[in-house]
Amino acid sequence: MTEGRERMLDARYSIRSHVAGELRASHSGEEVTVAGWVHRRRDHGGLAFVDLRDRSGIVQCVFDPDESGDAFPMASRIRPEWVVVVRGRVRPRPEGTVNPALPMGDIEVVVTGLEVLNEAVTPPFEIEAGIETDEVTRLRYRYIDIRRPEVLAALTLRDAIAQRFRRELEDRGFLEVETPMLTVSTPEGARDFLVPSRMNPGDFYALPQSPQLFKQLLMVGGIERYYQIARCFRDEDLRADRQPEFTQVDIEMSFIRTDDILQMMEEVMLGVMHAAGQELTVPLPRVTWAEAMERYGSDRPDTRFGLELADVSENFATSGFKVFADVLGRGGAIKALNAKGAGDWSRGRIDALNDVAVAAGAKGLAWVAFPSDGEVRSPVAKFFSADETEGLKAALAVEPGDLVCMVAGPRTMTNEALGALRLHLADELGIERTGFETLWVVDFPLFTWDEDSGTWQASHHPFTRPFDEHLGILEESPGDVLSYSYDLVMNGLEIGGGTLRIHDPKVQKQVLRVLGHDEERASEEFGFLLEALEHGAPPHGGIALGLDRLAMLLVGARSIRDVIAFPKTSSGSCPLTGAPAGVSPGQLKELHLRAE
Ligand code: AMO
Ligand code: AMP
Repeated sequence: MTEGRERMLDARYSIRSHVAGELRASHSGEEVTVAGWVHRRRDHGGLAFVDLRDRSGIVQCVFDPDESGDAFPMASRIRPEWVVVVRGRVRPRPEGTVNPALPMGDIEVVVTGLEVLNEAVTPPFEIEAGIETDEVTRLRYRYIDIRRPEVLAALTLRDAIAQRFRRELEDRGFLEVETPMLTVSTPEGARDFLVPSRMNPGDFYALPQSPQLFKQLLMVGGIERYYQIARCFRDEDLRADRQPEFTQVDIEMSFIRTDDILQMMEEVMLGVMHAAGQELTVPLPRVTWAEAMERYGSDRPDTRFGLELADVSENFATSGFKVFADVLGRGGAIKALNAKGAGDWSRGRIDALNDVAVAAGAKGLAWVAFPSDGEVRSPVAKFFSADETEGLKAALAVEPGDLVCMVAGPRTMTNEALGALRLHLADELGIERTGFETLWVVDFPLFTWDEDSGTWQASHHPFTRPFDEHLGILEESPGDVLSYSYDLVMNGLEIGGGTLRIHDPKVQKQVLRVLGHDEERASEEFGFLLEALEHGAPPHGGIALGLDRLAMLLVGARSIRDVIAFPKTSSGSCPLTGAPAGVSPGQLKELHLRAE
């Protein structure tokens, strides 16, 4: 159950005297008026039973020829999902008909009057939990879907989470400030959604990828502590944890250090987790980005299980295996993990692991299987010296039944490939993952080298503040610069991310230079920010939490679509409204546009 202010429906401000879910044995004998939807109707022994559903619950209404008068014959006419008002008297259910699974399972309402407010066509699917209906149909009739208990529960929990964020932040002196939806491009690294301007032919607004620049301007404006439950828009390929529009709990603070914002967020998260009926132990563990990559092969590690990566480069320092020797010669690394229990797997099953590693960037997967009994199997062990094999076993605490998987290559790629393999193996090995493992990943590199374009990219965004002690090497050695940055990771999902920001315009210009923005381009794109930084910008920093992702985890859903009232499909469309849709030639003309 969720803690805090209950969001119970009640009968105030309505034609009802009670809501279905509040009726108890203590109401026996009372005359009540309830209203809602016909959930189910069945006839039995000359009586008709109608389950009446509203948001608060379901109550059984009995049509009895002796008591229901004119209403009795109407019972046979009404159908599921009709909207009705029922008047009647509450009474305990007769012995043997009590339903202990429902809080109102020991009472029923004997109907004395019925009014049909609206009829309904046959619903496209049942209003029940766990239906098998395909998602497009559910989204096409989302208003029906929302009547189902699991969708209602998801929206209710999401509301509890959002309200608790608001309360925790209000309590800490944060002001909620709204920022524009019609704005200019913000650099969160995705494609923008553009909105043509009728009044300025050829010009476009961009929908915000986040309120990043505005929240920084609010800090320059002296707001000091800002938050907003903000809608963000990113035109990127959609996945289970990505929607083109999504919601951030967006936060910014002035005069802070990293520790200040992490502590504040931990306190807030404690309250939010409580609101969702979950525990959180604070302070949360912190791992550096470098350590997360080395141990888990991911910057958002799922720490609910081990299967950690080991560096076995040392062990193969003088190896005769050409693949390994070449990689080490080029300054790369050899990393390994021990898939406990996979040592007896078939060749085919192990080859599938190779495909996973290769899909994640590895050149190949070198493996050594140590069966429970029998000979060691491996396509590569024949190239290892006895010492190397023994060293490998010692490094990974190998026992009979284990499978050692190794990847050699550039360090980051190698880590990432084994990181992907680690997750795959957790599924394959059926490793149980329960609870909510939450941690901070901190100190990301400021820049990431992009092989495709041959340029440095901002790891978070271009306003992230470099470590003070790395300012001297900013332009000579961008790859070595670390940043004041922190991601909040829960069960292997990035649920939030933030950084301290650059408040010195000189440093901001330097960073933009490394990112390939000369003076002119920098002032074209971010001139207003650079100018604001010249007007007394306090040191500041912030974070944004993905509300949809957090709600998804806490609801136990598999997709953020399940916690969004009206989500888009994976192709970005809305089966209910038909969006996106064509527009009339007249509208296009007015906007100075031509469609292809
Ligand atoms: P970032 O881009 O990391 O940071 O976004 C913050 C959080 O938003 C969530 N998120 C998404 N959720 C659903 N669908 C999407 N397409 C999507 N994209 C991101 C993630 C992510 O952790 N302005 C910075 C924050 C800051 O520096 O303060 C920002 O937007 O949970
Ligand atoms: P090859 O010499 O290409 O036939 O590879 C011999 C074995 O080493 C095969 O099992 C490959 O999958 C594996 N292998 C190749 N490249 C790598 C690499 N970079 N890291 C780990 N194993 C590799």
